[in-house]
Amino acid sequence: MLHNISSYGVLSLLLSVIPASALLKRAAPGPEACADLTKSLGSKTVVTSVLSLDYIKSRMSYFNTEQSKYRPSCIIYPNSTEDVAVAVKAIRKADSRFAIKAGGHNPNEFFSSVDKGVLIDLSSMTERSYDEATELATYQPGGPFGDIYDYFLPWNRTVVGARLAGVGTGLALSGGLSYLSSQYGLACDSFRELEVVLPSGEIAIASEHTNPDLFYALRGGGGNAYGIVTKYTVQSHPANTFHAGVVVYLFQQNSTVLNAISDFIRYNQDPKAAIIGTYMKLPTPDLDLNLDEAIILFLVYDGPDSGSAFNNFTSIPHLLNTLAQTDYHGVVNMPLPGGAELSKGRNNFRVTVHAGNDEGIANLNQLYENWRAWSDKNKGKYILTSFDIQPIPKTLTDASNAYLGGNAMQMPDGPWYWVNYLLTASPLLSDRALAEVQESYKGLVEEVPPTEGLPLFINDAMRDQNPLRTYGGYERLKGIKAKYDPDGFFSERTGGWDFS
Ligand SMILES: Cc1cc2nc3c(=O)[nH]c(=O)nc-3n(C[C@H](O)[C@H](O)[C@H](O)COP(=O)(O)OP(=O)(O)OC[C@H]3O[C@@H](n4cnc5c(N)ncnc54)[C@H](O)[C@@H]3O)c2cc1C
Ligand SMILES: *[C@@H]1O[C@H](CO)[C@@H](O)[C@H](O)[C@H]1NC(C)=O
Ligand SMILES: *[C@@H]1O[C@H](CO)[C@@H](O)[C@H](O)[C@H]1NC(C)=O
Ligand SMILES: *[C@@H]1O[C@H](CO)[C@@H](O)[C@H](O)[C@H]1NC(C)=O
Ligand SMILES: *[C@@H]1O[C@H](CO)[C@@H](O)[C@H](O)[C@H]1NC(C)=O
Repeated sequence: MLHNISSYGVLSLLLSVIPASALLKRAAPGPEACADLTKSLGSKTVVTSVLSLDYIKSRMSYFNTEQSKYRPSCIIYPNSTEDVAVAVKAIRKADSRFAIKAGGHNPNEFFSSVDKGVLIDLSSMTERSYDEATELATYQPGGPFGDIYDYFLPWNRTVVGARLAGVGTGLALSGGLSYLSSQYGLACDSFRELEVVLPSGEIAIASEHTNPDLFYALRGGGGNAYGIVTKYTVQSHPANTFHAGVVVYLFQQNSTVLNAISDFIRYNQDPKAAIIGTYMKLPTPDLDLNLDEAIILFLVYDGPDSGSAFNNFTSIPHLLNTLAQTDYHGVVNMPLPGGAELSKGRNNFRVTVHAGNDEGIANLNQLYENWRAWSDKNKGKYILTSFDIQPIPKTLTDASNAYLGGNAMQMPDGPWYWVNYLLTASPLLSDRALAEVQESYKGLVEEVPPTEGLPLFINDAMRDQNPLRTYGGYERLKGIKAKYDPDGFFSERTGGWDFS
């Protein structure tokens, strides 16, 4: 007791000569923000226990599982725009790190993951609506696109979003390439109004008329840079019967299929016909039979009969052809044969872009050969590598540029194509070996420089590729970023593209 009193005496003496702020040891910023948020939002919305089922689910559901090693101080599940605004203010006050997570598919570190900070998991924000009179659809950022499509399907309508049901809505803020894009442009080209919590914590509207600069940036200029979108109002589009399926080829058709894809990039004029051409290398030993390779084509036609649109693909001898009539739910849930699905793992994307002229098309063969050679040489270091060809026809770039002069990418006229490279590294690699194989994959992608003047798709890019800099709207985006994030709160406290 006496001892306590005397130390109290010393303490009060110290307090009288030293400013209180220097003495009161602040809690670390993450826990401080979390404690504050638990008070204001309640323990149902703010989860701090690493053992809670919600916490485990959020932490484990990343497409790139490397992000699951991070441990947020808390995970919050806002269920309203106001909750998000309260969260941003508390995070700002505590000067904590944070991350915004929708579907968790971006493989870049800290884009939607955070260590010792606040993870804002948007999965509880799942309100949606459809207005038959205006044909406008609204959705909040929570839930995968598959759920969003299913919501609008009873009206025979859909929104432009992911080609696979499981991907989240962050896709749209970075453009968003859909099977419907050749008709309607990227996902962001159908935005009509967005509700946004700004880095200041204020709630704002972004549209053609209100904060048009912010609206421009959010139309494809990337997520987690200009604010947190809490509601999307978009032009919906008809979704009736589709003719869709996968065609699987034996490896021996590698060149024939590549030629057909090249022709499709250059010559297809029908905006209702869309494809993804996928070459995969599996970890199985090849034994010189090439059983470790698969070629899968995704064919989607918006209409009950694709006519001759895909004849160049279906006429090549194949193992399997599942083309059939289906609805949009069937289109985005197409099963992949042999379980060769894009699943969670030590995943990494890279992207390149090439023109649809003679030179760019000649490059496609080179890109493929390089990828294949790399994959053969690096056996054992990966579970899967894939080489995905995504044609960008002129009908797509026309549709994109028709709305308000185009989006943040300012898409140059098609045809051209993106190639998305996926590397799923082996779980057996040490962290160092993982870094090495990723570095080597980077070298592979850089062997053939992309066509100058064409944009690298930020949805398919690694951070070090600096894809935003290839966008026609980059300088404008930089200005908008500086205006809406004036003290660099988002730049400093969460991951994302570099504007410096
Ligand atoms: C299996 C698979 C299939 C894919 N298919 C396609 C495809 O068909 N078309 C295509 O274009 N891309 C596709 N992609 C790429 C995909 O678009 C990106 O990975 C995208 O980042 C995923 O968004 P998400 O919401 O799932 O991920 P998240 O990692 O949760 O979000 C992506 C980024 O956006 C930010 N963000 C998310 N929501 C908000 C918000 N409301 N406000 C502010 N910032 C936000 C996050 O902070 C993060 O930086 C695919 C990826 C995978 C893994
Ligand atoms: C949102 O959270 C509050 C507080 O936890 C809760 O009372 C309310 O029911 C939630 N609303 C929805 C739509 O989940
Ligand atoms: C949607 O399409 C189906 C099949 O053509 C039709 O039966 C149904 O009436 C349509 N629904 C609406 C709301 O138009
Ligand atoms: C297809 O594979 C064969 C056999 O390995 C190879 O010779 C050929 O170059 C490949 N085609 C292309 C376009 O690389
Ligand atoms: C199909 O291939 C032929 C050349 O073999 C080409 O002229 C035609 O344009 C191609 N069609 C499509 C839709 O790719």
